[in-house]
Amino acid sequence: MNITVINGTEQKSCTYTMKEIFLSIMGAGHRITEYYLPRDCPVFCTGCKACFFKDISVCPHSQYTVPIWESIIAADLLVFTSPTYVFHVTAQMKALLDHYGSKWMAHSPEGLMFNKQAVIITNAIGQGMGKTARDIKDSLDYWGVARTYIITQALFQAKWDDVANKRKNAFQARCERVAAKVKVTKRVKPRIKIKWIFYLMKLVQKIINKSELKAGREHTKDYLHWKGNGWIDGKKPWRD
Ligand SMILES: Cc1cc2nc3c(=O)[nH]c(=O)nc-3n(C[C@H](O)[C@H](O)[C@H](O)COP(=O)(O)O)c2cc1C
Repeated sequence: MNITVINGTEQKSCTYTMKEIFLSIMGAGHRITEYYLPRDCPVFCTGCKACFFKDISVCPHSQYTVPIWESIIAADLLVFTSPTYVFHVTAQMKALLDHYGSKWMAHSPEGLMFNKQAVIITNAIGQGMGKTARDIKDSLDYWGVARTYIITQALFQAKWDDVANKRKNAFQARCERVAAKVKVTKRVKPRIKIKWIFYLMKLVQKIINKSELKAGREHTKDYLHWKGNGWIDGKKPWRD
């Protein structure tokens, strides 16, 4: 399996250790590519919208964002990690995800996303992990990722060595359950929710395109992307 890991912190601390545990449970023989934030994408989205009008190759930060995106596309399994910072993902993780707004299904999603699996690993001292995971999952769902599994753990300690064994064991058990699901899935088909977003966004593309033409403007770039992939005319990205 090709596994791409996006680490939402450069600290080699609890989040890092939890990610290492998950990967070790996944077993040997995988090709793993890891990115650490902010090191590998140390910039905020400027809001220029170049990606929405063309694609991420014209992003002013393409030297960071394109290689990471290509690695995401090449992966069978995506692993996103983030500690909870004030009830949400780290700012550096949010900054990376902002750069891929044009890949949401409301715009120009990648067909290959619809057969991928993802795992989100979050933690916190006590509270906010759910929202942290949600910050990442929103992007994964709207990119079209077929299956996303969430592993969260409240630690109640700042250092992994001080974390109670019952919490370490609970985390390990969750990792084992998720790794077992990921490994047995041969051909990943999207969840109902992902298909539902796809059909809704297809309708949105048609409506926006129609109103643009009515106003005397060109087809939208996103409509042409959907049309070019055959999705407007009935093709499904998860069946190609
Ligand atoms: C800026 C900052 C904000 C934090 N906000 C929260 C929070 O909202 N809720 C919480 O339970 N822990 C919070 N924490 C604690 C971390 O989530 C926790 O210590 C986590 O395990 C750190 O991950 P790391 O060891 O990989 O750096 C925060 C820590 C930092 C540095």
